[in-house]
Amino acid sequence: MTTTAPWQRTALGANLLGADGSLAVTIFEEITTLAMQTGAINLGQGFPDEDGPASIKEAAQAAIADGANQYAPGKGLPELRAAVAGHQKRFYGLTPDPETEIIITTGATEAIAAALLALVGPGDEVLTFEPFYDSYGAIIGLTGATHTTAPLLAPDFQPDLAALESAFSDRTRVVLVNNPHNPTGAVFPAAVLTRIVELATKYDAVVVTDEVYEHLTFGARHIPIATLPGAADRTLTISSAGKTFSFTGWKIGWLSGPAELVAAARTVKQFLSYSSGTPFQSAIAAGLGLDDDFYTGIASTLAHKRDILSDGLHAAGLTVLPSQGTYFINADTAALGITDATALARRLPALIGVAAIPVPVFCHPEGAERTKSLLRFAFCKKVPLLEEAAARLATLKDKV
Ligand SMILES: Cc1ncc(COP(=O)(O)O)c(C=O)c1O
Repeated sequence: MTTTAPWQRTALGANLLGADGSLAVTIFEEITTLAMQTGAINLGQGFPDEDGPASIKEAAQAAIADGANQYAPGKGLPELRAAVAGHQKRFYGLTPDPETEIIITTGATEAIAAALLALVGPGDEVLTFEPFYDSYGAIIGLTGATHTTAPLLAPDFQPDLAALESAFSDRTRVVLVNNPHNPTGAVFPAAVLTRIVELATKYDAVVVTDEVYEHLTFGARHIPIATLPGAADRTLTISSAGKTFSFTGWKIGWLSGPAELVAAARTVKQFLSYSSGTPFQSAIAAGLGLDDDFYTGIASTLAHKRDILSDGLHAAGLTVLPSQGTYFINADTAALGITDATALARRLPALIGVAAIPVPVFCHPEGAERTKSLLRFAFCKKVPLLEEAAARLATLKDKV
């Protein structure tokens, strides 16, 4: 058989090892296994090692006790859709209609999948920045569309606007933006986002914007694309409770935008999961109403954690690249004379007891070449663990 089956396109897009079908293991799993085998501190995976607010956990427990245990409506519990609408108004002045312009999804991941499966197919192009969050390549592969990219270059990972323009074509149906950006930690300013909207308008593309780290920025202001002139009519905005509230395992996300685009995504979501965890939806509805101190607190706590890890990476002799948001910071190993960060990532757990993810796994081959000396570290961990990781990192320069 010479054709590539959809799952194999997924495998190629997500940089699975053994994309020929022999062994579908991501490098994330490989690094996690190495970390477990060596007892290393795992800064590869991007999830917190502390739960979010007790009041939200109690709300979920109460919802279960009160019998909120059957299917929620496909588009989400009314109280959560209302809470998402309230959040969009409170933070950004946006006024989506909770009846027709918001759906609740099984994490941002399902929102991304539903949007892309609804909007693109073979012959279409989906444009993302590169490096890109790994599920983008996989989902675009599943749709059968072509994945095109515009590079984000170290050190600041801001796009070159001319390169961005030349990545658009008449076949670009969706520009899939992630801001704040995983894996780089970049936060895009108004000028970049405005240019994206102008180009999407020129090429009549839909903007799908993944803003799961919207509340996790450090100094830089997060600007939702949907707030920019001319954007709202062609933008689907995606976010998730996982990052904001440190409940990544609950998988409650949402998508909002113009009614006809939301309806298209909802039609697909109906046959992916139909509906998403009822008691968790109820609890997140309560969480979205937490006061401003909560939202500013999560960002400042994370900024402090970023600084601890950043100091450790400096002490390791690495070039530390700026992180303005997300859970992640990147470091360039070239300063230590290392050009293959993927090989180093495989050695690092045994060498110093810390695990990290090589940035090339978030790229196609050309982008992998541009990022071959970069490692991504997660800092969404407890302070003592980060301090220990920083101390271990400081030994790196004497060991390579
Ligand atoms: C950029 C980005 N989008 C989406 C997700 C997935 O979000 P969820 O867990 O809500 O599906 C992640 C998780 O790491 C992410 O980094």
